[in-house]
Amino acid sequence: MSDFPGLLHQAYEHAVRWRASLPDRPVFPAATPDEIRAALGQVDGMPATGEDAVSTLDALARAGELGSTASAGPRYFGYVIGSSLPVAAAADWLVTAWDQNSTLYSCSPAASVVEDVCAAWIVDLLGLPSGTSVGFTTGTQMAAFTGLAAARHHLMAAAGRDVQADGLWDAPRIPVIASAERHASIDRALRYLGMGSRVDAVACDANGAMELSALDAALARVDRPPIVCAQAGSINTGAVDPLRAVCERVHGSGGWVHVDGAIGLWALAADDEHRRLLDGAQLADSWTTDAHKWLNIPFDCGIALVAHPEAHRAALAVTADYLEISGHREQIDTVPEWSRRARSVPVYAALRSLGRAGVARLIGGTIDHARHMASLLASEPGVEIVNDVVLNQVLVRFTGPVREDADGLTEEVVRHVQQDGTCWLSGSVFAGRAVMRISVCSWQTTADDIARSAAAIIRCYHDAVKDC
Ligand SMILES: Cc1ncc(COP(=O)(O)O)c(C=O)c1O
Repeated sequence: MSDFPGLLHQAYEHAVRWRASLPDRPVFPAATPDEIRAALGQVDGMPATGEDAVSTLDALARAGELGSTASAGPRYFGYVIGSSLPVAAAADWLVTAWDQNSTLYSCSPAASVVEDVCAAWIVDLLGLPSGTSVGFTTGTQMAAFTGLAAARHHLMAAAGRDVQADGLWDAPRIPVIASAERHASIDRALRYLGMGSRVDAVACDANGAMELSALDAALARVDRPPIVCAQAGSINTGAVDPLRAVCERVHGSGGWVHVDGAIGLWALAADDEHRRLLDGAQLADSWTTDAHKWLNIPFDCGIALVAHPEAHRAALAVTADYLEISGHREQIDTVPEWSRRARSVPVYAALRSLGRAGVARLIGGTIDHARHMASLLASEPGVEIVNDVVLNQVLVRFTGPVREDADGLTEEVVRHVQQDGTCWLSGSVFAGRAVMRISVCSWQTTADDIARSAAAIIRCYHDAVKDC
C-alpha cells in the first residue's frame, strides 16, 4: 500500500517543523475556514479512487499548519490546555506504531502492564489511599462519569438497591450537592447517569471556594446520604474547596465526596505550600484529573481514581463470552469505553522522565509564572487582578478610565489580545462580571514569555481604551 518508514519520516519532518515554529508563530491562526479547506484541496465529495499517501499527508500538514493554534507553545494561556512534554509526545508516536487495543490483557499485555504501573505511581505520587483503583479516560468528563457511577452504585447498594440491574426506575432520589462554581462537566456526567442536573448548589466565597456554612445548610436539607461534588481547582479562579472539612461533614452524613481535580489535583505532587491547599483531599471517595492539562501529556488523557474499588468495578465492569479474562489488569473494567488507545503510555513516559522532583518543579514553576503575570498586570493603573492566585489561574478585569463599562472594556481587551497574536487567552464571567482568564499550564513557558505576554496585554488594553 505504501512505504511506512517513508511516510513516518515525512510526518516526522512536518511535526518537527511545526514544533520548532511554536515560539514564534501567532498563537491563534489567521486562516479562515475557507483557506483551511482550500489547503486540504480535496473537500467536495469523497474521492472515488484513492490518492497517493505522500500528497495526502502533505495536504493534511498544510491545513494543520494553517489552522492549528500554538497551544503546545509557550504563550498559550487559553482554557486549561497543557502543552506536551517531548518525551510524552514521542511515546505517543510509539502508541500509534504499536496500534494496540488497550482494553484487555489478552489484546495487549504491554498496554495492560504499563497502565497498571502508571496507576500505582499516580496513587503514590498524589498520596491517595493505597488500593485506590484507577481508570484512564479520554478526559475529566468521562472520569467524572466514572467516579459518579461508582458513587451512584455505592449509595444505592447501601440503600438495598441494585442499580446495575434495576437502573433508577422507582429508586429513591440520591441528593446531589455541588459547588456553585462547579465545572459544567459535572452536570453532564450526572445527566449521563440518569440523575439529572438539578443539584443543590453550595454558595462560594469571594475566591470561588465552597462556603462551609452553605454546605452545612445543604446537608441539613437531605433525607438520605448525598453525593457531594467538590473541587480542587475551580475553572475560573483555581480555588480549592476546604476538602478536609467537606469530607468530614459529608462522611458524617454517610455521603460520598467526589473531587473534580481536572486542574488542581496535581498540586498534591508539588511542594508543601501547594499540597497544604489540598489538605484532606485523601479523605474523599473519588477524584478526577487530567494528564492532558497540567501534566503536559498530548491529548487525550483523563484519570478517574476511586477509593472504593468494589464500587468502581461494580459500576463499570463488563463481561461477554468472547472476552478472554486473564487475571491481570483488564482496563475495560475501569472506564466507560470498550476499545481504546493505550493512553497511559505517554503518562508513564512523562512520570518516569520527570520523577517526583520534576513533577513538583513543573507544577510549582507554572504557579510562579501565574503569580508573576498577576503582579506585572496589577502594576498597571486600571488593571485589577480579581482572584487570589492560588494555583495557575489568573482572572483580570480592566476598569480603565471609565469604570462604568469595565465589562465591555474587558471583553474588548480579550479580543485585542486574541488578534495581536503574542499570546492567546479567553474571557469568562466570574461573580457576574466579565473577566480575562489566564491559565499557565505549559512546561515551555519562561519568565520572558510571561513578560512579553504581560506587555502585549497592557498594550492591547491601551489600544482598547482608545477604541472605546
Ligand atoms: C475543572 C474542570 N473540570 C472538568 C473539565 C473537563 O475536562 P475534560 O475536558 O478533560 O473532559 C475541565 C476542563 O477544562 C475543568 O477545567
